[in-house]
Amino acid sequence: MGKKKKLKISLVASEISPLAKTGGLADVAGALPKYLSRDKELEIIALMPFYKEVKKKNLPLSPIVEKSELNWPGKEKIFSLFEYQAEGFKIYLIKNDYYYNRDYLYGTPQGDYEDNAQRFAFFCLASLQAMKLLNFQPDLIHGHDWQAALTFAYCRHLPGSDDFFKKTSSLFTVHNLAYQGIFPKETLEEVGLPAALFNPEDLEFYGKVNFLKAGLLYSEAISTVSPTYSQEIQTPEFGYGLDGVLRKRKERLFGLLNGIDYQEWNPQTDPALPAHYSKENLTGKSVCRKELLAAFNFPGNSRQPVIGMVSRLAGQKGFDLLLDSLDELFKRKINLIILGTGEQKIQDQLLEAKKKYPDRFGLKIAFDDRLARLIYAGSDYFLIPSRYEPCGLTQMYSLRYGTIPIVRSTGGLRDSVQEFQAATLTGNGFLFTDYQPSSLVAAVDRALYFYQQEPFWSKLLVNAFQSDFSWERRATEYKNLYLKILNF
Ligand code: ADP
Ligand code: GLC
Repeated sequence: MGKKKKLKISLVASEISPLAKTGGLADVAGALPKYLSRDKELEIIALMPFYKEVKKKNLPLSPIVEKSELNWPGKEKIFSLFEYQAEGFKIYLIKNDYYYNRDYLYGTPQGDYEDNAQRFAFFCLASLQAMKLLNFQPDLIHGHDWQAALTFAYCRHLPGSDDFFKKTSSLFTVHNLAYQGIFPKETLEEVGLPAALFNPEDLEFYGKVNFLKAGLLYSEAISTVSPTYSQEIQTPEFGYGLDGVLRKRKERLFGLLNGIDYQEWNPQTDPALPAHYSKENLTGKSVCRKELLAAFNFPGNSRQPVIGMVSRLAGQKGFDLLLDSLDELFKRKINLIILGTGEQKIQDQLLEAKKKYPDRFGLKIAFDDRLARLIYAGSDYFLIPSRYEPCGLTQMYSLRYGTIPIVRSTGGLRDSVQEFQAATLTGNGFLFTDYQPSSLVAAVDRALYFYQQEPFWSKLLVNAFQSDFSWERRATEYKNLYLKILNF
């Protein structure tokens, strides 16, 4: 009896953990294929750019293709291909130093790189060529966010390149609809796509070219990273001008909640932590708490509840709301600790606010995975006041580390956090709906009310630890979606 042919999946993403990361996309693009590839019916490869950040990590990489020339209108036509063996699957890196050997992935704190259109179009085109060079003929290409969206435009609209991908199906996942890759009209030709695509039914968007639309229009199916967000983006409030396009495709639009990697994020083994713990024995958590307080020069024996935040500093994440709430919040006996990087303006505002509460407001402007883990472990509460949140992973990490989330009820936050109810002892956190300081503060007050108050506090912690967001379970949902799409 012949062996059953495996389904071949190519995942295309602009960041993949552990090679390069600015946010949750990298976590998802690293963990999803790892858990999917445990399924013997699937064979997965992933593709991403070879950034300076990858080089700095000094990971074992093998050169696969030395120099391949791309049919590309720009001056840079050559890329090399490197391979990284991740757990269960291979990551292929597109190397072109002119485009990717830079200090940041997408731009500096002052703004995006000016040639991002070319950088990521090149990435999409080279990814397709890489699949050919590897003779990996995918049954399905799974592209993520605008940086990968042109993959589908090239597959469908580039004369000559189609044969290899003739039978290839596609899924496009939107991790964040607000980032669309919008560029001037001329860009279409600069990236080698037919000028005819400049019309509202294709890639035109209010006089410009919108890369994300290629993912939304030319894929067999679209998914988003939580069920609530898949509904929200069909409304003008969250649709960022594309709600109409999404409504048109709503039969092919799916909402699958992200998971997190329970191996990589485990308070019982995490090498970044000074002590380990589990829901049965929390002694190690208080060691982490002490160390966290010490890291911000707060007294280690402080009994004041610690509220942590780890976040990109971006409008999405609700820092304006937080800043407007700070005076009221600090009337409570709390310590607030924030780790973040991103927009200069938000950095400056936070640094300014910190001056007012030097003994109780800890702020570190950095991207620091180790410190992030200490915050998940050492805080009592974790605050996420997002304006919108497609999924959000940080509430899942904090729950995994026994830290109680206080979140705005939007997107994936709403799908993963349930309000704690004293009467039934159910729920794993606290939520607020109105984007108003009074609502945020009221949620914090509800949370603080139960702090170390038994039997509530212990039950709340048990509920947090028992929330299950493991990819083991969630990856199956993706497999089922792939199978469904292949039958369309
Ligand atoms: P988003 O992708 O919108 O930034 P997520 O909640 O999905 O939000 O994922 C954020 C990821 O990035 C988490 O893994 C979080 O720990 C990490 N992260 C964000 N900011 C920092 C930082 N300054 N230092 C370390 N890790 C960070
Ligand atoms: C995006 C979203 C975030 C989500 C992440 C991973 O960056 O902002 O909510 O968790 O992608 O899907």
